[in-house]
Amino acid sequence: MSTPRRSLFITSALPYANGAIHLGHLVEYIQTDVFARFQRLMGHEVVYICADDTHGTPIMLRAQTEGITPEALIDKTWQAHTRDFAGFGVAFDLYYTTHSPENRELAEGIYLALKDKGLIEIKTIEQMYDPVQAMFLPDRFIKGTCPKCGAKDQYGDSCEACGATYAPTDLIDPVSAVSGAKPETRESEHHFFKLSDPRCEAFLQDWALDSGRLQPEAANKLREWLGRDDNGKSRLGDWDISRDAPYFGFEIPGAPGKYFYVWLDAPIGYYAGLKKWCSDHGKDFSDYTKPDSSIEQIHFIGKDILYFHTLFWPAMLHFGGFRSPSRVYAHGFLTVDGAKMSKSRGTFITAQSYLDQGLNPEWLRYYFAGKLNGSMEDLDLNLNDFIARVNSDLVGKFVNIASRCAGFVRKRYDSQLLGDARDQGESQHAQLEAQLSQAAPAIAQAYEARDTARVVREIGLLMDAVNGYVDQHKPWELAKQPGTEQALHRILSTTLRCFARLSIYLKPILPTTVARVESEVFGLHQPFDWSQLDRPPVQSVGEFGHLLTRVDRDAIDALIEANRSSLQTSQ
Ligand code: MSP
Ligand code: ZN
Repeated sequence: MSTPRRSLFITSALPYANGAIHLGHLVEYIQTDVFARFQRLMGHEVVYICADDTHGTPIMLRAQTEGITPEALIDKTWQAHTRDFAGFGVAFDLYYTTHSPENRELAEGIYLALKDKGLIEIKTIEQMYDPVQAMFLPDRFIKGTCPKCGAKDQYGDSCEACGATYAPTDLIDPVSAVSGAKPETRESEHHFFKLSDPRCEAFLQDWALDSGRLQPEAANKLREWLGRDDNGKSRLGDWDISRDAPYFGFEIPGAPGKYFYVWLDAPIGYYAGLKKWCSDHGKDFSDYTKPDSSIEQIHFIGKDILYFHTLFWPAMLHFGGFRSPSRVYAHGFLTVDGAKMSKSRGTFITAQSYLDQGLNPEWLRYYFAGKLNGSMEDLDLNLNDFIARVNSDLVGKFVNIASRCAGFVRKRYDSQLLGDARDQGESQHAQLEAQLSQAAPAIAQAYEARDTARVVREIGLLMDAVNGYVDQHKPWELAKQPGTEQALHRILSTTLRCFARLSIYLKPILPTTVARVESEVFGLHQPFDWSQLDRPPVQSVGEFGHLLTRVDRDAIDALIEANRSSLQTSQ
């Protein structure tokens, strides 16, 4: 292989352990999985880690409502999440949990290192307190009348009617969403990470604005966040990293009754998973995490959590004695048919319902890949477009190539294929094989840039070229004419060798289908890899069933209906 082997540690954001995986989440896990699979196909070493994000007030309260312990809730959710991801072919090396001994140890270690460096400060703050539940209330658990526009029943941090943001203490007639009681204001000591310290600012300036770590849109956001206000003061505020008991999480060492805020230990969960994986596989965790590590550390996230991943997380790592992320890649948000996913419209589609309806997960992988271009733009799942693209591209253009040709080869040529046309000096056939091979660098570059929309477009052009070749040579007509045995064999072989190349190109996106191409269509004992694009090692064709079927509108309508009715039964 010409490119030197790289080693990559890749993550997706850790989903909260109190809700089902939906198609919005899947944008991210599919994007990351395609990237990880592409890197493996290139021969690079990849470890892809994810976990459930299990701590915090919403999870604690949700368990209370269900009458179970938080441990039981996160265990149940872990099972469901693991099953959903496997169903969509998202192949983590480890799917762990933030409620783990490794995570506790790492979180304590990072906290103590920050404290050592004088980067932790204790300050007394005022917060809303629910006297009935005997707990401090996060903003989202306080409701009241908006101080700006007077809209009733608004959350403690912002108004959905007028868009105003405010402190929960500004709400008119506030009530606790947990007990309905009128909250009191109480004082409490909180631990802060002093991001306003000049050392943090200097480090983050360097880290974030160093080209290549962030997308241009993200770097611009950072420039804003790291900027100075009109008085020349740094805009970076200190970050409140503690919460009072009762809280489901890790208690802060040396501070009884104080817990790490969930967003402190959540990203550390990436390292906890990596650490567990290293100890399970005889690898050295510090090779990955030491400040001068040569292994790439890449985080895939949604644009809503950029702040946590580009300010807090790199600073925690750096001042905690570790390396910092090589790259953070943010994607946009998913809409369905042009609107925010909605439970009442049935477009808040869960991963489980999609699988339960018998829809093929690779259809969605292909569709999302075709939409993602490496930017932070939002993307739309247009259901009619979904049906059209799957049916016309995947079934009409890709799968049909194999089904049109394989039968002839089995019947007339004892299932055997000829070698590469270029090795036999047959120029018009050689030209097509060369075209298919020569697209490799451009497609690899697009995968590397996460521009899978371009990957899919380039592959589409190659599919058109192969189908054009078949239409031009009309094997079904040649088959009826005497004396064309040799020519027909060449055309069928070239077509199927090109089909093998298309399969290699599509393998990160369609892992299950391409695994069937390898074993059923070509009877290979070794999986394809990228270096085989020049001369795919295919020699014969076997008997195979439908590689992919068509989607029909009725199945999609049933999916929407299932998501509408599940709401009525559950609420
Ligand atoms: N628990 C935090 C992440 C902690 S990472 C240390 C969280 N969880 S989440 O379940 O709300 O979201 C998980 C990921 O899915 C996030 O990257 C989020 O941006 C992404 N998405 C959630 N809904 C989405 C859409 N509708 N569209 C695209 N991505 C979405 O945030
Ligand atoms: Zn308002």
